[in-house]
Amino acid sequence: MEATRFVRRFGLVLSMGVAVFAAGYLLSPEGTGPTPAIAAANGVTFPPLGQLEHYTTVRRGVTREHMLTSRAALDAIKAGRPVPVGTHVVLVDYQSDVLTRYLVAQKMGEGIDDWQYQWFWPDQSIKADENIAQCYACHQRSRRERQFMFTFGDALSFDGSPPT
Ligand code: HEC
Repeated sequence: MEATRFVRRFGLVLSMGVAVFAAGYLLSPEGTGPTPAIAAANGVTFPPLGQLEHYTTVRRGVTREHMLTSRAALDAIKAGRPVPVGTHVVLVDYQSDVLTRYLVAQKMGEGIDDWQYQWFWPDQSIKADENIAQCYACHQRSRRERQFMFTFGDALSFDGSPPT
């Protein structure tokens, strides 16, 4: 039957078109993998964890949070300067010793308020329904003069010995 064949072909072409469109939409320009296809997307990139220093740990019940940032950012903090543009500050969240999420702050520009926030799952995908404006608001409200960091004091006193 011609008609059925046409419908089948057309269906195939259509679904390929959708797949190509979806792939283009999901892949980041850098080709680093899945990115923001949703409203919560912003300029924050997944941090280069291996290049960052673990400067302090915060514990609360079953929660253990490893705080990480770059050597350059730690040096800047000690020198009383703003952290370099591009700096990642990361909260690696463990619940009962299981990696649960990465909360990330990134310095996007020279201005004191040029920070952005993002929540990444352990597979590095973004949490789609997070209201990241709340992250920013809380950090700005309390820590604007301290690089938006609650653990600024720990970063300042970090002497290079691994935190417990
Ligand atoms: C109501 C206030 C509040 C909100 C909202 C909030 N944070 Fe925080 N954040 C904190 C506090 C307090 C700490 C210090 C660690 C702790 O007490 O667990 C912290 C620590 C951090 C750190 C480690 C660096 C630092 O500032 O010490 C990062 C990164 C971070 N938060 C990212 C985020 C992200 C991303 C979100 C949103 C998904 C978020 N935060 C939402 C209060 C907040």
